[in-house]
Amino acid sequence: MKLRTLGKSGYSISEMGIGCWQLGNDFGPMEDERATAILQEADRQGMNFWDTADVYGGGVSESRIGGYCRENPSDRFIVTKVGRDGTLYPGAYTKQKVRANIEGSLKRLHVEALDLVQLHCIPTEVLKAGDMLAWMEDFQQEGLIKHFGASVETMDEALFAITHPQLTSIQTIFNVFRQDQVNELFPKAIENQVGIIVRLPLASGVLSGKMQKNHQFAESDHRHYNRDGAFFSVGETFSGIPFEQAVEFAETLKAWLPEGMSLAQMAMRWVLDHDAVSSVITGASRVEQVAENASVSSLEPLSSQLHEKLTEFYFNTVKTHIRGVM
Ligand SMILES: NC(=O)c1ccc[n+]([C@@H]2O[C@H](COP(=O)([O-])OP(=O)(O)OC[C@H]3O[C@@H](n4cnc5c(N)ncnc54)[C@H](OP(=O)(O)O)[C@@H]3O)[C@@H](O)[C@H]2O)c1
Repeated sequence: MKLRTLGKSGYSISEMGIGCWQLGNDFGPMEDERATAILQEADRQGMNFWDTADVYGGGVSESRIGGYCRENPSDRFIVTKVGRDGTLYPGAYTKQKVRANIEGSLKRLHVEALDLVQLHCIPTEVLKAGDMLAWMEDFQQEGLIKHFGASVETMDEALFAITHPQLTSIQTIFNVFRQDQVNELFPKAIENQVGIIVRLPLASGVLSGKMQKNHQFAESDHRHYNRDGAFFSVGETFSGIPFEQAVEFAETLKAWLPEGMSLAQMAMRWVLDHDAVSSVITGASRVEQVAENASVSSLEPLSSQLHEKLTEFYFNTVKTHIRGVM
């Protein structure tokens, strides 16, 4: 597993990390044994960068990670998020309540200081008011957190947060179906030494090419209940593209696969081919997926011809289908 440096933190993190929203049962129910096996596989594959949030499964994802790490100590970077808990979101942010939320994460993860806490897609006006960022600086000085970053939904939010001198990372949706960051965000990330953490590299799984238009998701899976953005930002589910349309796009891409690569590998390799990216936190709901995702680190970069085709495909065909504010 190759390592990259995460922004100004100096952390050497695995370029393929793991997203742990799935461990909160938000992609359908997941039993404890499977959650443990997924984390064991991440360790075995040298993935030392794990992303979670206090709200995933109401704390279940963090608790599973915390329990596993206590029993299997190792050098890892466990990054979490704050800001979407019902006590805060959307408009009840106070320093005291944010601190209480962070203390909850510390307890569930069994650590004295959190490696990195990301503001969790807080409303744009709350982000821009600046109080949350100032409180994070205070929590950092107090030693509750080691670093802080921002997980954002829009380019506007990313371009605002990236100028903060202490900000370590931006987490953004970046994939073959969502490419605007290449020109608009990545040069600034490099210039400001801010790490880029990529979520949804597979557009919630559809970019693996395994889904048919009639695919049925469990009722507790956000790909069922938030398919069209009924519960939270539509962009977080299938990258904002109507599911059937996304399945069609994935079918088109299958014709362009380099020999021996799966569509999932091609989609993730495409992300890694961008130098500004620090780690890709693909979510996994099965052990085999963890191994396949880790393998992307050792694949050759895609050819420049394929990169050009994928860029054209995005700007000429895909972009117009994205719903929600980008
Ligand atoms: N606002 C935020 O900050 C925010 C929002 C969303 C996500 N995140 C973070 O980002 C992580 C990644 O995003 P995501 O999980 O939503 O999207 P994703 O990584 O694009 O998709 C994950 C899904 O893709 C499928 N998959 C993964 N590896 C595969 C493989 N090798 N072959 C075939 N299918 C594969 C699985 O689907 P099946 O379950 O159907 O098998 C898995 O649940 C999350 O886990 C979470 O940590 C953060």
